[in-house]
Amino acid sequence: MKPIKIALTKGRTEQQVIPLLEASGIDCSGLRSKGRRLIFDDDPRYEIILVKGPDVLTYLNSGSVQIGIVGSDVLDEQGNRQYAMLNLSVGKCRFVLASTEDFDPQQQRRKIIATKYPNITKRYFQSIGEDVEIIKIEGSVELAPLIGLADAIVDIVETGNTLKENNLHVYAKLQPVNTKLVVNRLALRQSQVPIKSLITSLQTADRQIK
Ligand code: PRP
Ligand code: MG
Repeated sequence: MKPIKIALTKGRTEQQVIPLLEASGIDCSGLRSKGRRLIFDDDPRYEIILVKGPDVLTYLNSGSVQIGIVGSDVLDEQGNRQYAMLNLSVGKCRFVLASTEDFDPQQQRRKIIATKYPNITKRYFQSIGEDVEIIKIEGSVELAPLIGLADAIVDIVETGNTLKENNLHVYAKLQPVNTKLVVNRLALRQSQVPIKSLITSLQTADRQIK
């Protein structure tokens, strides 16, 4: 049987998910000592590729991988067209509106908000009936209000260390984020048995590790 291809979000998600994959009986020795490699087939049942979060959905949508492991932040931002089959207990964090101490949430001037997540930001401000200007940046979002690019940011907070070390404060809590396993719809129909068995063993491992 052909291996099932899994696109795993590299970085934090990868680090948090490897113990789960191992606990569900998947050999991750290559991932543990990966160097600059991007494809891992130590376990003959699976081929794991490492990609950036938004690209997980590109691979899934094209059908070139059957399974993706990705944060709900990416799904919410891009609009989710796959089946989210499993919520994992790893990667729990939250979107917040944050800025410097002197930020006035009631300011008269139209606010400028910097974020990596323009769609989530737009939806949030629409939901509270406020019209803002959104500037999309690619990372180190916390810099924007410090350097004068924006009045505030919408970004993800996990431990809170990045906000704290840059003297930023939370002004509003937005939606929570967690890691999800998503499956390409066609792949689910074609390889139902192995995909469902992977999901069951990951679910058990997730409950044990939690
Ligand atoms: C993420 C996020 C915050 C930080 C939150 O950034 O954008 O900056 O982590 O984590 P903390 O609350 O535990 O400090 P990441 O490190 O992924 O880098 P980037 O934003 O520059 O891409
Ligand atoms: Mg960041």
